[in-house]
Amino acid sequence: MTLFSHLEPYAGDPILSLNDAFQKDQRTDKVNLSIGIYFDDAGRIPVLDCVRQAETQMLAEAGTKSYLPIEGSAAMRSAVQALLFGATHEAVVSQRIATLQTIGSSGGLKVGADFIKRWLPGSAAWVSDPTWDNHRAMFEGAGIAVHTYPYHDAATGGLRFDAMLATLQALPPRSVVLLHACCHNPTGVDLSPAQWAQLIPVLQERALLPYLDLAYQGYGDGIEEDAFAARALAAAGQSFFIANSFSKSMSVYGERAGALSVVCGSAAEAELVLGQLKATVRRNYSSPGIHAAGIVSRVLGEPALRSSWEADVAAMRERIQGMRRSLHTRLTALRPGHDFGYLLSQRGMFSYTGLSTAQVDRLRADFGVYLVRSGRICVAGLNSGNLERTAAAMAAVI
Ligand code: LMR
Repeated sequence: MTLFSHLEPYAGDPILSLNDAFQKDQRTDKVNLSIGIYFDDAGRIPVLDCVRQAETQMLAEAGTKSYLPIEGSAAMRSAVQALLFGATHEAVVSQRIATLQTIGSSGGLKVGADFIKRWLPGSAAWVSDPTWDNHRAMFEGAGIAVHTYPYHDAATGGLRFDAMLATLQALPPRSVVLLHACCHNPTGVDLSPAQWAQLIPVLQERALLPYLDLAYQGYGDGIEEDAFAARALAAAGQSFFIANSFSKSMSVYGERAGALSVVCGSAAEAELVLGQLKATVRRNYSSPGIHAAGIVSRVLGEPALRSSWEADVAAMRERIQGMRRSLHTRLTALRPGHDFGYLLSQRGMFSYTGLSTAQVDRLRADFGVYLVRSGRICVAGLNSGNLERTAAAMAAVI
């Protein structure tokens, strides 16, 4: 018996392993709709011009590579607050938000989960059914019990809003409710502003702790519009967590650019929270990276880079919307009588197709079309060169 022989083999991550398998697939007509990455119409992951320009500036400035503070770059942290809430939002101005730069929003989610385990012991987390697979893994990894609340309606391709509210209304105080701020992953089904307006009083009456995941800002209705939930919760005086990512919105996946913000009741409370978040980071990875901070703070802070970024985000969003419409048109032509309306009503990078695991496996094996086994497709993997083939393959397995 050697030291590690008792280890269980890692089954692999349901999303990342699929992306690895796609890379190894030798077929030239393969289609990658698995991972949540934006590809352009030529199938490339773009490097945005604003990001290149920010990097050029950083290189020219030849700054040092010293450590950032535990909480990250001050410029990035205040740019994040302005982006999420608006620079003049009362919660920002009164300094009752504790914000940390984190290693992607995943880093933020995990730091927040560790903090909750320590400071709100006994709180369980409630995630939507379904949610991003890693949500459960992260909260359970922090030692927090994870349960689900009803969300996706398989029959209509929409939201089980009444059932969701009824479940949340029965939760014990201080339960953590994980909510997707926009572009729900994996379903593409979002709450409308009117539904948020109904949900927020329930969160408040039950003294629940909302934890927002905002990984796709700009891919729903727009950069400002997609911050609606965060602003509405803050305006209602609710304390909550929000982890946000720049991976998709700035197309900087490997830079691990994200943040965690905790909206508190007062500036004094925010200072306490920030202190304990810093302690949590120090125990985990000590401090975040300088390159991500340089990119994000420049792109958000410099007017020319900012407007170039906003135009790029709009173009990426509109290309995805165009692909949704085209796939809907082709599938409807190939399979008349079958309702593909979900492609038009769902938003953001993902759609939940309702395909069974057997159908998903057949798409991969017989047609080289890769999607997550839950039936989630990343619409951003479609382009004018692969749309027809993808529609034909989907129609063949339905
Ligand atoms: C996804 O859901 O595909 C992305 O968020 C990438 C990931 O890390 O899972």
